[in-house]
Amino acid sequence: MALFPTYRARRMRRTERLRALVRETALEPGDFIAPLFVTHRDGRHPVGAMPGVEQTSIAETAEQAARLEALGVGAVLLFGIPAVKDERGSGAYTADGVVQRAVRAIKERIRDLVVITDVCLCEYTDHGHCGLLTADGEVDNDSTLELLARMAVSHVEAGADIVAPSDMMDGRVAAIRQTLDAAGFTATPIMSYAAKYASAFYGPFREAAESTPQFGDRRGYQMDPANADEALREAQLDIEEGADILMVKPALPYLDVIYRVKRETGYPLAAYHVSGEYSMIKAAAERGWIDEERVMLEVVQSIRRAGADLIITYYAGELAKRLGG
Ligand code: PBG
Repeated sequence: MALFPTYRARRMRRTERLRALVRETALEPGDFIAPLFVTHRDGRHPVGAMPGVEQTSIAETAEQAARLEALGVGAVLLFGIPAVKDERGSGAYTADGVVQRAVRAIKERIRDLVVITDVCLCEYTDHGHCGLLTADGEVDNDSTLELLARMAVSHVEAGADIVAPSDMMDGRVAAIRQTLDAAGFTATPIMSYAAKYASAFYGPFREAAESTPQFGDRRGYQMDPANADEALREAQLDIEEGADILMVKPALPYLDVIYRVKRETGYPLAAYHVSGEYSMIKAAAERGWIDEERVMLEVVQSIRRAGADLIITYYAGELAKRLGG
């Protein structure tokens, strides 16, 4: 490597055109996945803790999906808020569930948009946990698997292109893969939340999805934020169980995990820039403390640089607008 003054790093930084020539990380609208919250209610309902994000009716969700598709966003990821919640999360796996109906409505309007659905019971259970409870209030792994698999099949029957299990039960990717295959859906990919941490950054989402646990927390099934080697083990297990895309979540506090999972697996990797990450930028920008647009771009650039191929973010629409125009 040449040294100063033979080498001057500033030469290639002098103008925007020169910088663009040697830019290492490119962003495209198609790299982004937009989460959408579909509610059984009519109309649109702003989420207080997430400025710019709304719960939307089935018709409004299809409307939003069409808008995102026109902007070139890569995919939408649907979360459902059902009319009734019960102990077993029944609303999650009925053919006329809110997500199932929304998928049909979106597909009727825009066939080609990639529709991903969240597979997890927490929005559908009255206790707010991601699986079934035992008599002593533990989240039971094995009895939950069958329900998750049923939920995935019902989403695909409605027209979902990819299913994304976020529950963190052990063995759920294998259970979903086997059940999808048995139902004839051998071509449907699974995007697995391989390394999902028990994170305080999910706070605002729980308002949006109305999925706050009614007792305890999720540390018994989601990963300990102190661990990274374990994330590689989780990723490996999900690959063996049949995952097609891996995910790390949250994104910014776990860039090391994104980097390592990508390097060690070489698998398509998604990173979820979660609600708390989004809301922190919004809050600081509202106070005039940071430049929202520049921070938004810098953050997604860092996530891509670390190794993520896809970024799930509430900024997907704004980023696509900014990059496309
Ligand atoms: C669970 C789920 C959560 C998120 C996505 N799927 C919340 C949780 O585990 O409590 C969080 C996403 C975000 O914070 O943006 N189904």
